[in-house]
Amino acid sequence: MSLHPSVPATLPEPVGAPYFHYEHGELYAEGVPVSDLARLHGTPLYVYSRAALRAAWQRFADAINGRDALVCYGMKANSNLAVLREFARLGAGFDIVSGGELARVQAAGGDPGKVVFSGVGKQTWELEAALHAGVRCFNVESVAELQHLSATAARLGLKAPVSLRVNPDVDAHTHPYISTGLKENKFGIAIEEAVAAYRLAAKLPGLEIVGVDCHIGSQLTEIDPYLDALDKLLDLIDALAAENIRLRHLDIGGGVGIRYRDEQPLSLRALLDEVFRRVAARGHGNLQLVMEPGRSLVGNAGILVTEVLYLKHAEAKNFAIIDAAMTDLIRPTLYDAWHGVLPVKTPASDTAAAHYDIVGPVCESGDWLARDRQLALRQGDLLAIESAGAYAFVMSSQYNTRPRAAEVLVDGTVAHLIRKREQIAELFASEMLPPDA
Ligand code: LLP
Repeated sequence: MSLHPSVPATLPEPVGAPYFHYEHGELYAEGVPVSDLARLHGTPLYVYSRAALRAAWQRFADAINGRDALVCYGMKANSNLAVLREFARLGAGFDIVSGGELARVQAAGGDPGKVVFSGVGKQTWELEAALHAGVRCFNVESVAELQHLSATAARLGLKAPVSLRVNPDVDAHTHPYISTGLKENKFGIAIEEAVAAYRLAAKLPGLEIVGVDCHIGSQLTEIDPYLDALDKLLDLIDALAAENIRLRHLDIGGGVGIRYRDEQPLSLRALLDEVFRRVAARGHGNLQLVMEPGRSLVGNAGILVTEVLYLKHAEAKNFAIIDAAMTDLIRPTLYDAWHGVLPVKTPASDTAAAHYDIVGPVCESGDWLARDRQLALRQGDLLAIESAGAYAFVMSSQYNTRPRAAEVLVDGTVAHLIRKREQIAELFASEMLPPDA
């Protein structure tokens, strides 16, 4: 493919602005030039902004506006201890999906009393750990789990607080891989079967019913799917009240979308105003609202910084081969997801711009991070992959024996290393050689 001698005229506005922004043609994370971080810590490197985390939290606080709601951070999106600690200090609870995540909450100083435990396949040791920790609630996803949880709690002489995760069968209008509220998904108890499941829960000795829960999908940009699910949940709450089964909270899950490219994020305030209005109108204003946002608290608070290793101008395509890979950010190849790619420095005026596929070093054709992006690149340039605060590091792998990257949290003009780059030797330190035959 031919090269065009034109440089993109202006630097794009980062989706993580103002926490990521250009100053004198250089990308900054808050008050720190991104190129300084790359020099100090190497690449690939995840860079998070503490102010962006706080601002994202504040958007929820503002939308709640003093009403009775608990935000349980869906920590699967980014479970670095420093990120958890930040949200714990701000008063967050946590939505966990494993015993490992519970251990992280505890290590970060989070309050187990504000933890909701979701997931379709909780193991016995995980139930026990959560019971001992005193989590606020188990979001139970099947009748079999209800029975097992009751037996486990009774064996320990404890009562498990439960909420049933109901599958309301609504279409969240999002990517099929991250849509969870449809009948055909593995998640939750079908809404038609929910009353019977609650009746059973009320009878089981090891359980205490505390709430109802749903999570219909991720990266939602519309309010309506939430409201459709809410209306179904409210019908269920009425039906339960008629049987004298009373709840303390109503959990509408996570799923609030962010801007990767040109998405219009939904208005949290409009969503919550309408949720509180409908709940009150149905006479359930006593219920505490619980939410489980993940991506919207962290997604645009992070970037992935990477170096261009080689440029390759093949017949059909131009490739920029970078030192980050699908092992660092699997979303593009897994969901066909779009992430912005920013130059860390304004390209020199004599650098030719071209359309590049941005690909990693991993031996898979699926190892691409962005496609067909117009960029003016030279070998050795730094790039920032945007929206890498959520579902990036947490989904990283060591495939091809690639050490997982370091993570840095920027706070004003200071950068804290919050995860060391893995050393090659660590990658096989747990492996053992059998005796020679
Ligand atoms: N609650 C439950 C029960 C969930 O399953 C999830 C996400 C959340 C809360 C948080 O959802 P969020 O607010 O982050 O949308 N790896 C995919 C996303 C998977 C989401 C799984 N569940 C991605 O990279 O887009």
